[in-house]
Amino acid sequence: MDSPVVLGIESSCDETGAGIVSGGRLLAHAVVSSMDEHTRYGGVVPEIAARAHLHALNPVVREALSQAGLRLSDIDAVAVTTGPGLSGALQVGLAGAKALAYARGLPLYGVHHLAGHVAADTLEHGPLPNPCVVLIVSGGHTSLLLVRDLVRDPVVHLGDTLDDAAGECFDKVARAFGLPYPGGPAVDRAARGGDRRAVTFPRPLTGPGDAPYTFSFSGLKTSAARWAEGYRLRGEELPLADGAASLQEAVADVLTRKALAACRDHGVGTLVVVGGVAANSRVRALAEERCAAAGVALRIPPLTLCTDNGAMIAAVGDLLVRAGARPAPLDMSVDPSAPLQRAALHPTHPLQAAAA
Ligand code: KG4
Ligand code: ZN
Repeated sequence: MDSPVVLGIESSCDETGAGIVSGGRLLAHAVVSSMDEHTRYGGVVPEIAARAHLHALNPVVREALSQAGLRLSDIDAVAVTTGPGLSGALQVGLAGAKALAYARGLPLYGVHHLAGHVAADTLEHGPLPNPCVVLIVSGGHTSLLLVRDLVRDPVVHLGDTLDDAAGECFDKVARAFGLPYPGGPAVDRAARGGDRRAVTFPRPLTGPGDAPYTFSFSGLKTSAARWAEGYRLRGEELPLADGAASLQEAVADVLTRKALAACRDHGVGTLVVVGGVAANSRVRALAEERCAAAGVALRIPPLTLCTDNGAMIAAVGDLLVRAGARPAPLDMSVDPSAPLQRAALHPTHPLQAAAA
């Protein structure tokens, strides 16, 4: 029997994504971003994002169907991000997904956004080994996880950030450097040709007595912003390339050091790095270097699957369907601050439903 065809919808922040996955294979992947509409405000404006999702959702779903050469009647299940994210933005995606599921009598799955980031890698590199260590680095989250079966087992958090996420650090320091939003890609571009040893920014929580897998980026953010401010106050030109390269180096150093310590301490042979910051060129290069030296297999999704998209949500939906998970009730709602415990944000088997 052919594998079911799963449509995934993502709308948690400023990207409206629709993806189609079947049997672990990526069939289509369409994204529209409202990023340009937020740039002049220096960050995502929730109401603008929600309205943009409203305009983009149907065209993006149509585009995904057309890429896959499929019609709506070929879809067997719908998966949608129900959290975490911006409430209004999530609600637009969920309403659209419910409408499709209700109209066509399809099972609906509510997916945790970060589980989507993890599953994105399976679309390029196949099923995840069990267990693996996952480093999630996005605009809102930075976590080191021990992942067994992504859709059957609870996710174990080895460590999280105490304050800012790695992406948030890039975004906020970029502002202090006079770079546009989103800061991560801008810092990455500005760092080309810079000397990553030019400025010694702090490496927070990497001392011998520090929690080995816990992150903190607000001190690094402040330090980098002060460094830039110093040049402004002195009326000197900011050595932007060196500052950007040194900032990237500090973030990449801390992330990869802790991720490899987690692999070593837990005897795990595979590290998966996912989320928007996994697109960073220095994070990718240093992860490769250190994994190779430690004999750890490294998996990072291709750039287009690192940042938010619908294919990653379809990938989780596809895994849930194939694992025989229960669909969500049609009165499911969004959970804007859902912690990552399970890939689905609703009970997926009878025992869980009884406990809920
Ligand atoms: O995963 P994502 O697309 O959205 C969230 O779920 O947050 O991550 C967005 C974050 C932003 O902070 C953005 O600045 C960062 O990922 N980012 C990067 C790069 N591309 C995106 N950070 C560093 N270098 C990049 N090349
Ligand atoms: Zn994300």
